[in-house]
Amino acid sequence: MAHQVKGVIAGKKGEPVSIEMIEVPNPGPGEVLIDVKACGVCHTDLHYREGAINDDFPFLLGHEAAGFVEEVGEGVDDLASGDFVILNWRAVCGHCRSCRRGRPWNCFATHNATQKMKFDGKELSPALGIGAFAEKTLVAAGQATKVNPEAKPEVAGLIGCGVMAGLGAAMNTGQVSRGDSVAVFGCGGVGDAAIEGSRLAGAHTIIAVDIDPTKLEWAKKFGATHVIDSSKVDPVDAIREITDGNGVDVAIEAIGLPVTYEQAFYSRDLAGTVVLVGVPNPEMKIELPMIEIFGRGGTLKSSWYGDCLPSRDFPMLIDLYLQGRLELDLFVSETISLNEVEEAFHKMERGEVLRSVVIL
Ligand SMILES: NC(=O)c1ccc[n+]([C@@H]2O[C@H](COP(=O)([O-])OP(=O)(O)OC[C@H]3O[C@@H](n4cnc5c(N)ncnc54)[C@H](O)[C@@H]3O)[C@@H](O)[C@H]2O)c1
Ligand SMILES: [Zn+2]
Ligand SMILES: [Zn+2]
Repeated sequence: MAHQVKGVIAGKKGEPVSIEMIEVPNPGPGEVLIDVKACGVCHTDLHYREGAINDDFPFLLGHEAAGFVEEVGEGVDDLASGDFVILNWRAVCGHCRSCRRGRPWNCFATHNATQKMKFDGKELSPALGIGAFAEKTLVAAGQATKVNPEAKPEVAGLIGCGVMAGLGAAMNTGQVSRGDSVAVFGCGGVGDAAIEGSRLAGAHTIIAVDIDPTKLEWAKKFGATHVIDSSKVDPVDAIREITDGNGVDVAIEAIGLPVTYEQAFYSRDLAGTVVLVGVPNPEMKIELPMIEIFGRGGTLKSSWYGDCLPSRDFPMLIDLYLQGRLELDLFVSETISLNEVEEAFHKMERGEVLRSVVIL
């Protein structure tokens, strides 16, 4: 028997989301039914609602979540009913050409639940293969990672997307290390996590860039040593000034805009690294002089999910949080109910929150 539960649906491009009764199947082989306890509102959910990811409407939004395993399907032996888990959107396959070469964080064949959740007889497209703005959701077993249940769900869930993406953009993709200088463009949940990741990795100088003074104030709490309001000054000049005219070792773009990518590109030092973690829309283009790409040396990278391995990183980050060494509570600006997601999108657009987190 399928479960009938409430979920947040984006039915048409650009239209407000609505709460609907959806149908969630019982777990089949390799699947897990999750009793969702918390799910953060990430900018990527808004990208879906705006049709900026693809046109596979209707979407079941929400993907930054924690909850309890309610039931496991056939063949699932590493999870059991009652386990506290964080959901992830890159369940590693173990067989693709990247996994076979020992690079599972780049897995080219990540997978989701096989059975479809439905609304009004139509198959739903769950955001990032999760769909957790819902009382229950169905995922592949590899999408659920068991962590210490002492962590509050509204905090644990954040590790499932934005915080992991930001921490990993600095620590894994950018390989920030002791003594490095770093600039982070965009101080939303993802950018602030990149700032915190840089601090944890031992960066010496951490420069936060945003156009919103409130965001810059918050960025200091996560470890920014300098802040730049790029609506007032040229951030490339300002970054050069802070770094003795050199630029930064690692420049992280956490917005997804051509203008800020170019700023990141020009603000790095010789042999520096640029990391793109912000998600661009399909129409965006950049134009860069090839001589600048060659002449500066270094590396231009993008970061999928912070190049994380959920099974390795999620339990470790939750332990760091419980030990008081990873700040996560500050990301939770407010807790809301399922029917406040649309309003939470507007608060995000107005820059009033880092994360609104739905509690179920
Ligand atoms: N690569 C990944 O795996 C991954 C994972 C999660 C999210 N993301 C993406 O990361 C990006 C950030 O997500 P978020 O949840 O932190 O979003 P957010 O909206 O909370 O934060 C964006 C920040 O950028 C600032 N900003 C906007 N325009 C700017 C400009 N021109 N110059 C400087 N600052 C500007 C805003 O003031 C805001 O503080 C989004 O594109 C999201 O889709 C990527
Ligand atoms: Zn997200
Ligand atoms: Zn793989």
